[in-house]
Amino acid sequence: MYKEELAFIVKSIIASETIHEHVKWAEQLSVFYKKTATNKNPENNETLIKGGFALSSSGAADCVDDYLRTIFFIKGIYKALTKLSLDFPERSINILYAGCGPYATLILPLLPLLNKDRIKAVLIDINAESIQSVHNLLSIIGLEEYDLQLIEANAITYTKPTDFVIDLAITETMHYALTREPQVAITKNIVRQLTSDAILIPEEIRIDLVYTFFAYEPYLKNTLEVKGRNEMQPYTDHVFVDRLFTINKEHFDRKESSSKFESCFYKLPDNFSNHPDVCIFTEIKIFEDMELKTAESYITNPFCVVSMYGLSAYSEIQLVYDYSEIPQWSYNLKERA
Ligand SMILES: C[S@@+](CC[C@H](N)C(=O)[O-])C[C@H]1O[C@@H](n2cnc3c(N)ncnc32)[C@H](O)[C@@H]1O
Repeated sequence: MYKEELAFIVKSIIASETIHEHVKWAEQLSVFYKKTATNKNPENNETLIKGGFALSSSGAADCVDDYLRTIFFIKGIYKALTKLSLDFPERSINILYAGCGPYATLILPLLPLLNKDRIKAVLIDINAESIQSVHNLLSIIGLEEYDLQLIEANAITYTKPTDFVIDLAITETMHYALTREPQVAITKNIVRQLTSDAILIPEEIRIDLVYTFFAYEPYLKNTLEVKGRNEMQPYTDHVFVDRLFTINKEHFDRKESSSKFESCFYKLPDNFSNHPDVCIFTEIKIFEDMELKTAESYITNPFCVVSMYGLSAYSEIQLVYDYSEIPQWSYNLKERA
């Protein structure tokens, strides 16, 4: 019975086209999980690892309520799986899902739409409680016949079995501006293990430097305020400075061991009263045309690094992103001549 209910919800998610429909079906999915999850009071203990904080089981469960994130990822992953099934009609599709959380939100709802003989998936989480929760959900919903391996492991150091060639790798372990959580360290480890044909989701995370008035930019504060990109315009004096980097399959030099990005130096404007904040903007291309724009989700909210009001003695700024421990932004300055 639960399996049919989930199939109905996920078909509605795939078919949904308007913000109203996206929100409605994300809410239904959230209600479904709350009803079927066996542990109603998951623990609230984050894990600190080299590379970032892994959310607690309860924090990871709450991600389902980042409505447009959840809907667009599920739609994007469905699209990628459809493409892979057409590209490789003779064999099963191998999926690696790193950081599945207690609900495996980005793959479990799609299972009723997939032929159980056509997919094999490895699901990893560092949190034992989350792995146990996915086990329980699969049996309660009636999805045990799918070939899923659930593994408690650190996705930053995990090595896949040699006979498991990954077709689709999924990881959403991120906070806005790639701060706090270990998305980059996990992606770096996964990308090393992908063939050139494999699909990585998200396909791209674009990180931009912008001078703006942070308080006037769109910002998602709670789910009641969810808006689509057409309803949100950037602040009128928003100045795009540069794309700092894009995280994708090509980003990581396979030999490189550095966990740091340093930008060039950018000129600080003399007159900045209309755009006094140095900010990082995040956009995510999940797969093909499925994208999350600024403030459509918590993970694409803008982030303010520093206000120019404190930098009047300086003429240029360099942005530094370091994910060797807890991922964070800092900056270096050049003094005025
Ligand atoms: C932002 S939550 C997302 C949960 C779920 N994938 C979703 O999209 O709703 C990130 C999940 O990744 C897990 N995680 C974070 N760092 C990890 C790591 N290094 N290894 C394995 N799992 C990790 C956390 O425990 C958490 O369950």
